[in-house]
Parts: sequence; structure tokens; C-alpha cells
Amino acid sequence: MSNNQPENIWSDELFTKYYLDMIKNKYPANQTEREANFIESVTSLFMGDKLLDLCSGCGRHALAMAKRGYNVTGVELSEHLINKAEKRLKDSPVTDQVSFINDDVTKLHERDLGTKFRAAYTLASLGYYMSDEDVENTLKGIYNHLESQGFLIVDVKNREHLLRNFKQKDWVKTKNGFTCFRYTKFDFESSCTINYKHVKPPHGDEVMYSQWMRAYTLKEMFTIMTKTGFSPQRVYGNFKRGPYDINSQRMIVVATKES
Ligand SMILES: C[S@@+](CC[C@H](N)C(=O)[O-])C[C@H]1O[C@@H](n2cnc3c(N)ncnc32)[C@H](O)[C@@H]1O
Repeated sequence: MSNNQPENIWSDELFTKYYLDMIKNKYPANQTEREANFIESVTSLFMGDKLLDLCSGCGRHALAMAKRGYNVTGVELSEHLINKAEKRLKDSPVTDQVSFINDDVTKLHERDLGTKFRAAYTLASLGYYMSDEDVENTLKGIYNHLESQGFLIVDVKNREHLLRNFKQKDWVKTKNGFTCFRYTKFDFESSCTINYKHVKPPHGDEVMYSQWMRAYTLKEMFTIMTKTGFSPQRVYGNFKRGPYDINSQRMIVVATKES
């Protein structure tokens, strides 16, 4: 454990058993479309370009981008989510344009994917159970797999907004009957949020698990990008290309690969 970051307790169960049912409300189809619009609007892509979707989850962006004419490779750690994504893909008209790799994005710098990509994006994922070295290795890996002048989009929570509106305790009840009570701590030494979640599924017993995530300042993100060969170009505060400031919930950095 480095930098006082909490122990890594990532498990497939965490992101599948409860996550999948809970995200049905969190990511409605129009949000995915908005995010796909954003990806297109901040990059200059041509039909048929190859895209790398890092931490692709259940494949919502991979499928949306494939439907717009691109070829997408998703990389995702959870085997269960890959299976879900492949099932969705099988029932879609873009089967030939998408493939998923069950792998850890922090190891991408050690992999040969056999091709170069025009753009890479990682939405709502960078920093989940990742040490600073892991994040740096992830960006190094992306750099190796991008074409020269290729694009990188990193979307994370806006740390400043998070702290300004910090909620130590909150709870949600989803439309499909999940109740989640969350207790959150912010560890300033590691700049990590640590969540302790109590989830009560509609049927079955309550379960408890914890999650942690590194929260980056804009300066830290720029530093890590520059160190790994990227040139940050623009910062946005939401997927409508609104400004990044203390009131914006997201910090979305668009960078290019300098060669
Ligand atoms: C909040 S979800 C977002 C998924 C997707 N980007 C989306 O917006 O729908 C975070 C995802 O990151 C994946 N993940 C976390 N750490 C990872 C790693 N080291 N390598 C690959 N995937 C990872 C999780 O399994 C999960 O699917």
C-alpha cells in the first residue's frame, strides 16, 4: 500500500452483482448518447477509425460508438461485465465492429494489441482502486497504443466539486428496488474517497462493501498526462462541453499524443 491508499479490495462481485442492477437508473440511454456525442465532438474522427474504450464496463459506449461507424476495442477487468457486454453485442447490428478484452488497463503498457488506435477514452473509471503508479502505467499503455496525434479523453469526478459538496452520508433507492446507504470519508493524504456501502437488494440480505477512488486535481492530471507524453488540450465540466469550474461535477480532459 503506497501513499496511504486503502487496501485493494476490487472484486468482480462488487461491480456485477449489485452494480449492474443499480446502473440501470444511473446511465439512461440518452446519457450514453450524450457521452458518445461528446467523444465525437472533441476528436476529429473518420468513419472506420479504431477506438480504445478503457474500463468498458457493460459496453454502453463501445456499442454507441460502433453504431456511429467506428471500430471499438473495449478493455475491462470484470469477466462478468465482459460477458454482459458480449451478450448485448450479439443482439446488435455492429457485432463485427466491436471486440472486448478481459484485461487490467494498468497492465496495458506491457501488452501488444497488434494495432494502433485513433482515440482512447476512459469514462468514470480512472483511479478506481488504482495507485498513482497504476494510473501512470495506464496512461503509458494508452500512449503506446495510440497513433501519433491520437486523442485521449479522461473523465473523472471533479475533486473540488466533490469536496465542496461533500456528503458524509447519503442513500438512494433505485426504481428497481435497491436501497444503498453510503458512508464516505475523504483521505487528504492520499486524496482518495473511501466509501462504505450497505446495499439491500429487493430480495435478499443486506451486504456491505467498501470502495476507494483517487481524486485528482487538474494540475495533477495535467502533470501525469505530460509526464506520459500527452499534451492536454481542453478541459470540460460536463458532457455538454460546459466549463470546468468548482460547480461542475466532472473533470473531463482531452489530450493528444505528442510524437
Ligand atoms: C464506474 S464503471 C464505468 C464503466 C464504463 N466506463 C461506463 O461508463 O459505463 C468502472 C469500470 O471500471 C472497471 N475497472 C476498474 N478497474 C479496472 C482496471 N484496472 N482495468 C480494467 N477495468 C477496470 C470496472 O470493472 C467497471 O466496469
